[in-house]
Amino acid sequence: MKSIHRIPLMSQPWPASMLARIGCKTSSRSTTYSFKEWHLWKMHSLSSSDNQPSINARPLNGRSQGKDRNVLSTNNACQRPATIAQPRNLRLAALPDSLAEQLINRNKAMSTESSHQEQSSPSVMSLARKRVVVVGGKTGIGLGIARAAYAAGASVTVASRRIASAKERPELANFEQVTLHICDEAAVRKAFDDIGPFDHLAVTAGPDLGTWGTFMDDDMRGVRSYFDNKFMGSWACARYAAPHLRANGSITLLTGGLAARHKRGFSAVTAAFVAVEALSGSLALELAPTRVNTIRPGYVDTDLWRVMSDEERHALKAKVRESFPARHAGTVDDIGHAALFLMTNAYVTGTVIEVSGGENLVPSVFQ
Ligand SMILES: NC(=O)c1ccc[n+]([C@@H]2O[C@H](COP(=O)([O-])OP(=O)(O)OC[C@H]3O[C@@H](n4cnc5c(N)ncnc54)[C@H](OP(=O)(O)O)[C@@H]3O)[C@@H](O)[C@H]2O)c1
Repeated sequence: MKSIHRIPLMSQPWPASMLARIGCKTSSRSTTYSFKEWHLWKMHSLSSSDNQPSINARPLNGRSQGKDRNVLSTNNACQRPATIAQPRNLRLAALPDSLAEQLINRNKAMSTESSHQEQSSPSVMSLARKRVVVVGGKTGIGLGIARAAYAAGASVTVASRRIASAKERPELANFEQVTLHICDEAAVRKAFDDIGPFDHLAVTAGPDLGTWGTFMDDDMRGVRSYFDNKFMGSWACARYAAPHLRANGSITLLTGGLAARHKRGFSAVTAAFVAVEALSGSLALELAPTRVNTIRPGYVDTDLWRVMSDEERHALKAKVRESFPARHAGTVDDIGHAALFLMTNAYVTGTVIEVSGGENLVPSVFQ
């Protein structure tokens, strides 16, 4: 007897007209395929998406239909965990340390959890009952992200090389503070082990302006130190935070416009930014269902620009307001808002979001 399979109508990859042309019977609820047609459908699904369908064979309408009659149902909620668990565990099996075990257990727990409760994006950007860690969160862009997360209801931990007293920095009073040097792998690992379970990580820490060497410098010290800090620092934070991230969690990394608009004299910065953006895309696959994204800010008014005189800073800001299409000099709150979006939107991963007031559309103000 010809084998028959039914695919729920909502899972159809092809329009009804096309199905009619290949002779499939379509009802209001499902379409009947021969095995060959079902096979074609399956190949189409596999090639058109990473979300491979999980196929559960069960008797038609709950009644026994004989060996050759099954309903093949696709259940989107179960897809990702089932398809990612095996390769990830295989790779991690090569790692002897307990961190690999932590990651495996975390992935198993997430697979079970997310197959039962797939998250959708909330109608408001709320982080109530969530815990957020911002590395670099005591100043500048990181502080903007920490403030946005706190305002959205999260409890926030900020990490960097220094602890600031409440007297010195009253604006940090709402946050837990942790010390960590992102170039010190053991310290990063220990810091995240001490922090324990949390929901969202943002890494904004980066070297001061002018701490990189130019390409024609005498040696590689400048570029090495920039990469150690920006790229390896982001890598280490993501690596050692991952085992502690709860289901539906996210990682947000930070680069800058140079990643897309190269400039003379910035080869180390540009290459490190591009590497961070590539890392973020790779981790979106490797750590799924944890979402991983990057914010690429344009000019933002922070203390990073303290290497300029007040006059120069003022002139730069005026130039930005005048020439950027948004007619606005970016603030740390603009970046905080974007980070909040990335933490709360369940459908954004593996992407770079540029928040630059349209800086990419006009000639550079940094001449
Ligand atoms: N501002 C802009 O216009 C702009 C534009 C595009 C891209 N960016 C990028 O955004 C990043 C942050 O910029 P920002 O303006 O927020 O600068 P910022 O105000 O100087 O903030 C940098 C933060 O990183 C921390 N930090 C630096 N080195 C660290 C290390 N080794 N370990 C741990 N924490 C460290 C610092 O705290 P401690 O001193 O306490 O360690 C500080 O809180 C930079 O990578 C920058 O390239 C900035």
